[in-house]
Amino acid sequence: MTTAPASQKIILNTTVNGQEHQLLVAPYHSLLEALREAAGLTGVKEGCNDGNCGACTVSLDGRIVDSCLVLAAEAEGRQVQTVEGIAPDGQTLHPLQQAFLEEAALQCGICTPGFLVAAKALLDREPDADEDRIRLWLAGNLCRCTGYDKIIRAVQKAQG
Ligand code: FES
Ligand code: FES
Repeated sequence: MTTAPASQKIILNTTVNGQEHQLLVAPYHSLLEALREAAGLTGVKEGCNDGNCGACTVSLDGRIVDSCLVLAAEAEGRQVQTVEGIAPDGQTLHPLQQAFLEEAALQCGICTPGFLVAAKALLDREPDADEDRIRLWLAGNLCRCTGYDKIIRAVQKAQG
């Protein structure tokens, strides 16, 4: 990363969804802003912008974070995964994406990318997580539309 006065932009070298990026960002930009505005990855959603809703959830070196609370510069040299990167290829949905569709686990959709990234992180670690564990894990992701039950059912369906 190149350092610069706050009024100037910096070049952020980071890997997003397996691809190396050089992103031009302001030193005070959040990772959320860098992903949406500099990388064009608008699947990452801005809800509250203060760490309360989870809509901006991404994986940073395998750990889920609220990207609105992470400075873009903190992603220097690190691996970021967004919802755009969870499907295995351009033709196939991730089992969680398929299950969300089948269970109608989304309405307005603003929360959905964050739920998908968070749920994938859980199932990668704990494929047999029970309902209580799933609900606890997803407690940082808010949804104003679905009432949560469809989301939980979708995660369970994706467990197979
Ligand atoms: Fe980041 Fe709500 S937009 S937690
Ligand atoms: Fe609208 Fe979750 S589907 S907030």
